[in-house]
Amino acid sequence: MTSTPPLTPPNRFCNVAVVGAGYVGLPTAVTLASFGHTVTVAENDPTRLARLRAGQPAIQEPDLEPLLRRGIASSTLHFTPSARTAASDADVIFLCVPTPQDLDGSADLRFVQAVIADIAPVLRPGAIVVNKSTVPVGTAHRVADLINRRDVVVVSNPEFLREGSAISDSLHPERIVVGCDYAAPAYVVAGLFAATNAPVLITDTATSELIKYAANAFLATKLSYVNAIAGLCEATGADVGDLVTGLGLDSRIGAKFLNPGPGWGGSCLPKDTSALSVTARASGFEFPLLDAVIATNDAQFDRTASKVLSLLDPATPSRVAVWGLTFKAGTDDRRDSPALEIISRLQASHVTVTSYDPTVDASLAASDLAGITLFNDPYEAAEDADVVVVLTEWSEFARPDWDRLANVMRQKSFVDARNVTDPAQAAAAGFTYLSVGRREVLNPDFLTTTTRSKEEQA
Ligand code: UGA
Repeated sequence: MTSTPPLTPPNRFCNVAVVGAGYVGLPTAVTLASFGHTVTVAENDPTRLARLRAGQPAIQEPDLEPLLRRGIASSTLHFTPSARTAASDADVIFLCVPTPQDLDGSADLRFVQAVIADIAPVLRPGAIVVNKSTVPVGTAHRVADLINRRDVVVVSNPEFLREGSAISDSLHPERIVVGCDYAAPAYVVAGLFAATNAPVLITDTATSELIKYAANAFLATKLSYVNAIAGLCEATGADVGDLVTGLGLDSRIGAKFLNPGPGWGGSCLPKDTSALSVTARASGFEFPLLDAVIATNDAQFDRTASKVLSLLDPATPSRVAVWGLTFKAGTDDRRDSPALEIISRLQASHVTVTSYDPTVDASLAASDLAGITLFNDPYEAAEDADVVVVLTEWSEFARPDWDRLANVMRQKSFVDARNVTDPAQAAAAGFTYLSVGRREVLNPDFLTTTTRSKEEQA
C-alpha cells in the first residue's frame, strides 16, 4: 500500500522516547526535538549520558552539537539512564539500539530483546513502539510477540542517514518509510516527520524492513561493481574516472556512489549485506548476486594490499605509512573500516605499519589500532616509509607536498586507493604511483576529460 497520508497526527506534537543515543538514536532525537516534539533519550552508558546532559555529543557529526544544545535549552530534549523511565511516559518509543553482526552473519537482536523486556510492562495503552534500528524481516512481529499486549502497536521506520551528514540527512530525508499492519499508528509515526516534507511510503512491516536491507545491498552492489570495473580498467588501459563520468551521465544510473576505492566498509554496509544473505538462505532463496557483491569487496581489500606489496622488496623489512583510518572521510568511525582490513593484510606480510588520521590522537591507545605506530602528522608517519598509501579520502590528502614527502621517505612510492591525488604531480616529483583504475601515465597532448553541459554546447 503506497499512500500520502495527511501528515497531521492527532496530537501534533508527541511525547517521544528514543532508546539508545548512538549514530542513529542521537540524530533522530535531536531532529524530532527540533521539530517541536518532546523527546526523552535513554542512554545506559553513564559517561556518554553525562556528556549528553552537558550538551556534548559522543559522536562527531556536523551540526549535531548546536541542535543538541538547542533541544536541552528549550526543554524539548531530556536524558535518562533508564529506558523504562523514558518509555513509560511516551506516545511513541523509537528503538535505536545496536543490532550487531552475529557469528553466523545474521543480525543479533539481543539489545532489542533486552529493551523490550524492560519496557513492555510500563508502556501506556495506545503506545507505538518503532523499530528504527536495522532489523531483519519479521522483527516487528517478533517484537509485538515479545511485548504481548493488544493495546501496543509495533511499527517499522528504517533510518537512511549517512555518517558524516547525519543531521542534514535527518532534517532533509529523501523519503520516510513506515511499515505497519494498521493505518492509524503508521500515520502517527509519519506525522512526526511532517516538517521534513519528505515523500512518505506506508507499507506493511516486512516490506519496510526489507527496504532498508535492499537499499544498503544495492549501494554495496554499485560499489563492488565500480571497483570491479576499475580493476578491468587497470587490465585494459582504460580510465575509470572518465568511465564513471560516462556512466553517471545516464540518469538511469546516476553519478553518485560510483567512486572506486579500497573496498567498502563501515558499520552498516558489511553488516547489512551479510544479514540479507543470511535472510535469503534462511528463506530458501538463492541470491548469488549478493554473495558475489560481498566476495568482490573482500577481493578489493586483497587487491589494494597486493598493490602496496607489489612496490616493496619482499627480501628486506618494509615500512608502509597509511594515511587515513576511518571507513570514509567526515567521520571518526573506524568500525569495519577498509583501512583496518588492508593494514591487517600488510601486517600478515610482515610489513611495519605507521599511520596518520585527522581524527586519531596518536597518544591514545585504541584496541583496534594495536600494532600500528600512530602519528599526529602525515609527514612524520611517512618518515622512512617505503610506500605511503591513502586509504581514507580526507581532503587534506588531496594535495601532498610531494617534495617534502620525497625527502622523508626511504623510497618514493605512493598508492592512492581513493583517487584523490593528481597522478601528474606525483610523476613530476619522481614517484612510482598507483591508484584505482586510473590512467597513471598521462600524455600531455591528450585532451583530458571534458564534459560540456547542453547550455555550453549551444
Ligand atoms: C550507509 C548508507 O549510505 C546509508 O543510507 C544508511 O542509512 C547507513 O549506511 C545505515 O545503514 O545506517 P554509511 O555507513 O554512513 O551509510 O556510509 P556510506 O556513505 O554509505 O559509505 C559506505 C562505504 O562505501 C564507505 O567505506 C565509503 O568510503 C564507501 N564508498 C562510498 C565508496 O568507496 N565510494 C563511494 O562512491 C561511496
